[in-house]
Amino acid sequence: MAWNNILVEFDNEIAMVSINRPKALNALDNETLTELSDAMAELAANQGVRAIILTGAGDKAFVAGADIAYMLSLTPVQAKEFSRHGQYVFSQIEDMPKPVIAAVNGFALGGGCELSMACDIRIASEKAKFGQPEVSLGIMAGFGGTQRLARLVNPGIAKEMLFTGDIYDAQAALRIGLVSKVVPAGELLDECKKIAKRIAAMGPVGVRFTKEAINQGLNMDQEKAFNIEADLFGVIFSTADQTEGMSAFLEKRKAGFKGE
Ligand code: HXC
Repeated sequence: MAWNNILVEFDNEIAMVSINRPKALNALDNETLTELSDAMAELAANQGVRAIILTGAGDKAFVAGADIAYMLSLTPVQAKEFSRHGQYVFSQIEDMPKPVIAAVNGFALGGGCELSMACDIRIASEKAKFGQPEVSLGIMAGFGGTQRLARLVNPGIAKEMLFTGDIYDAQAALRIGLVSKVVPAGELLDECKKIAKRIAAMGPVGVRFTKEAINQGLNMDQEKAFNIEADLFGVIFSTADQTEGMSAFLEKRKAGFKGE
């Protein structure tokens, strides 16, 4: 498929999706959101893909937010639709049946910070900058940021970020738990690929069910979440991956998982 605003590349079982609107520091408009959604749907269905890296093209921005020029003259109805569109696509990413790693290479502001939070893992380059500066524009976060940030860091830190619009550098983002690792800019993609490859070598069903258990569990009380974990743990004993993984251990050989 030919895309206007994103790039999709493959390195064996790893797919890399780059938001590619350099003139606007990769800001998100409706077309970009739709392309991102379509690409994710394709990658979800592609049996050869076991992990996805999401990044921004160029060396300056991951995504500098939703497109401000586009938003300037939206009506209230259009603004709500735009918010819903982004929320839908970001939830689609969050619910992907394979892991998505955000390689945050520069500005991750507003909708860009929100996009990184919809990914499973965030790795930042030393040049990355995070923030929710919507209040400085007289608006508020609207692609899930009020909810995901409060769950990911803690409500007090989330409110401070969302109320002040302050920009956090990569080390500050690491300190508050927004990212799991900071690496030199030149090593960012290699580091993300290393992580993606380690995950890709694991049993794909185990990885998928783990993601499902965590994501579902975060939105319910712990007792109910334990039931989901136990149900998925039971189902996994019907898969070839379980037989293969355990047999390989006992036979002292490397497992060859098929993801089924
Ligand atoms: C549209 C953007 C943009 C954005 C940058 N550009 N961010 N265009 N939407 N979010 C454009 C600039 O207008 C400029 O275009 C070009 O990209 C380069 O940006 P500069 O500002 O010249 O670069 P620099 O001085 O280095 O500053 C970088 C920056 C700054 C600090 C990232 O661009 C900035 O503050 N951007 C806005 C960040 C932001 O407020 N994001 C939140 C948006 S609201 P020209 O044509 O002049 O070269 C949001 C809401 C989400 O995300 C929820 C929606 C429902």
